[in-house]
Amino acid sequence: MKIGIDQMAFATTDKYIDMTELAIARHVEPNKFLIGIGQVEQAVIPKTQNVVTLGASAASQIINETNRDTIDMVLFATESGIDNSKAAAIYVQKLLQINRYARTVEVKQACYGGTAALMFARDFVLAHPTKQVLIIAADVARYGLETPGEVTQGGGAVAMLVKANPQVLALNDDSVYMSTDIMDFWRPLYRTEALVDGHFSANIYQDFFKELWQRYQMQTALAISDFTAFAFHLPFTKMGLKGLLEILPTASESHKTALLTAFEASRVYNKRIGNLYTGSLYLSLMSLLDNQAFTGGERIGLFSYGSGAEGEFYSGTVQPTYQKGLKTDFKALFAKRERLAITTYEQIFNDHFVLAPDDVAYDLTNDSSQFVFAGIKDEQQQYHQR
Ligand code: HMG
Repeated sequence: MKIGIDQMAFATTDKYIDMTELAIARHVEPNKFLIGIGQVEQAVIPKTQNVVTLGASAASQIINETNRDTIDMVLFATESGIDNSKAAAIYVQKLLQINRYARTVEVKQACYGGTAALMFARDFVLAHPTKQVLIIAADVARYGLETPGEVTQGGGAVAMLVKANPQVLALNDDSVYMSTDIMDFWRPLYRTEALVDGHFSANIYQDFFKELWQRYQMQTALAISDFTAFAFHLPFTKMGLKGLLEILPTASESHKTALLTAFEASRVYNKRIGNLYTGSLYLSLMSLLDNQAFTGGERIGLFSYGSGAEGEFYSGTVQPTYQKGLKTDFKALFAKRERLAITTYEQIFNDHFVLAPDDVAYDLTNDSSQFVFAGIKDEQQQYHQR
């Protein structure tokens, strides 16, 4: 029985900044951001948006009158959660009127959480072949103004429906994974911005990829020639290129070119959104499937990395029907976004959600999104759907 991703959708905010403009404002040579980091634009997340609103916007493109009654589980992967106890999944369940007989939980391990949720869902469907799982991987990546990490911020959500006989990608049961306690990136409970040892984190990412790729080849007897493309967790898109370049020397000349072309397809959207932590690898997969033609049957390698640290390498097989399962019109999404001046972005960045018990009602006039975080009342977060 094939099990995997039947539908995929993405959502972000209606605002972004241009990386050339950010570079100029930070007195940096623009090609450092555009080429050295590999980012062209960055989603800006106002305080009226968070993982719940972004997750609901992504999942609303998948959930409809029929499947809202048949979803058995909602797994919400995030590392920028909005409550220390209650799962963001329950807020989304309410906003999208998903049936009350679904399990709704949150999953956390930095950027790796989305892959953990996907694999839990796969195993659940294997045990219960008629069941369907909604996965949401949503995050807001914040490092701070004028920090080295600033160019790698961003935010958004990917939603995926996992079931038997999937339309998009069948997951091959070939995962290799590893975890080790490493302090490369973390966010203490009192902080809204992550702490990171940037160069160290990039080295660990590469070390994990190399080790897991070796292990994968030993365990499966597959080689690079068995892969049509690779998709990577893309904290910034140059990071994935560094990963790919580690293994490329083992490919034939023509295959090298094909893999590099596929890599470019896999980073078109991530270059314009920035990091979205748990959803990053899956946005890259959507980018690959939207920007390169497949016939079905091709094997794609996927590398997931979450600081702290945990990694997984696995493969999926593209299904001939994959286009039907890709639910987001990216052209319309990008066309709708408003480009902000760097000073406006800085104001929005500083005017973030403050952990405080006071009632507050946010001004929603500058947010055109379908789902909005409207403020706090009686220490409860208020969400609205337009
Ligand atoms: P930095 O120190 O400012 O940058 O920060 P740099 O000096 O290392 O330069 C970056 C690249 O630009 C270099 O290329 C330069 O040569 C190049 P490289 O040597 O790396 O190939 N460059 C230029 N290229 C073209 N034209 C130019 C030019 N000038 C320089 N004129 C850093 C970079 C990534 C460290 C920083 O942005 C950062 O700390 N980011 C946050 C951490 C991060 O993203 N880590 C990634 C791995 S960890 C991970 O993936 C997990 C994560 O998603 C979190 C989670 O799991 O939850 C982060």
